[in-house]
Amino acid sequence: MMTRKRILSGMRPTGKLHLGHLVGALNNWVRLQDEYQCFYMIADWHALMSEYQNPKDMQAYIYEVARDFIASGLDPNRCTIFIQSQVPEHLELAMVLSDLTPLSWVERCPTYKEQLRELKGREITTYGFLGYPVLQAADIALYKANAVPVGIDQLPHLELTREIVRRFNTTYKKNVFPEPEPIMTSTPKLLGLDNRKMSKSYGNFIALSDTPEMIEKKVSQMITDPERIHVKDKGHPSICTVFSYLTNFGDNAVTSEIKNLCESASIGCTACKKSLAKILIDRLAPIREKRALLTDPKIKEILAEGAKEAGDLASRTMDEVKGIVGLIR
Ligand code: TRP
Ligand code: SF4
Repeated sequence: MMTRKRILSGMRPTGKLHLGHLVGALNNWVRLQDEYQCFYMIADWHALMSEYQNPKDMQAYIYEVARDFIASGLDPNRCTIFIQSQVPEHLELAMVLSDLTPLSWVERCPTYKEQLRELKGREITTYGFLGYPVLQAADIALYKANAVPVGIDQLPHLELTREIVRRFNTTYKKNVFPEPEPIMTSTPKLLGLDNRKMSKSYGNFIALSDTPEMIEKKVSQMITDPERIHVKDKGHPSICTVFSYLTNFGDNAVTSEIKNLCESASIGCTACKKSLAKILIDRLAPIREKRALLTDPKIKEILAEGAKEAGDLASRTMDEVKGIVGLIR
């Protein structure tokens, strides 16, 4: 049997997953399951780096993310789903990699500077947070992943991962870790319901777990073409977020019909939003139904199994690494 190439990717459990995660990552992850050997991780150590001051919601978010993963189509029989902190080797390899990562590499990482600006009010000028990309490199290298499905925002981390594993390989003159390639999603970013960046702190998103009533209400409050004040005004779908959601989730026939109706001022925004709400409710129905069947014990069982599978591979890599760097296995 030909061995499939391996991928690893992860998400931080800092809140409920939403439509942005679905189009930006999860749909892609689901597709990759058959082509690659896939490891999908709940990056709780990474979440802790920015959320360590609020321990109260974290456990619930971890389980909710697992539930969203599976309900969206990640199949525990075809991929490995696990919690990062349940495979202790992530921290062990991160320690080894941090020894050979120059301080300047992490200090100049653009995401680091950006997060310091964005996450104001949180004490993240810490030693741990600076090491964020080193732990991410360890996540990937631990499984000798060949590729990583990521959004554009994660490219600097992947580039740093490639540099770190290259440095490991040259330092020890052994080709231990492959340099992982990015697998990019082609879908453009979905904006939030209020046209700002979709973000947990703005609460401007539709969660995968939202009820039909919540979806209807949120869609009815969405911002449309700001120049369209009266129904008689012709609309500009290309600058309307409702329309961009329609293009992402509706079928082509409906979308092009609405485009024509909007541009000829033959449909009002209220009616248009009703169509979108219906489309989203239908799209999320299977996810919502599947979520409801995933009990806590079932989720815990899947995660325990995943940690075991991941742990098997992780401990083999760590044995090899310990030998190479001169530690006792
Ligand atoms: N930093 C990633 C994010 O915020 C999460 C993550 C952690 C990750 N470890 C990873 C992604 C390894 C890909 C590979 O989205
Ligand atoms: Fe946007 Fe629809 Fe209103 Fe046109 S009709 S501006 S696409 S909400």
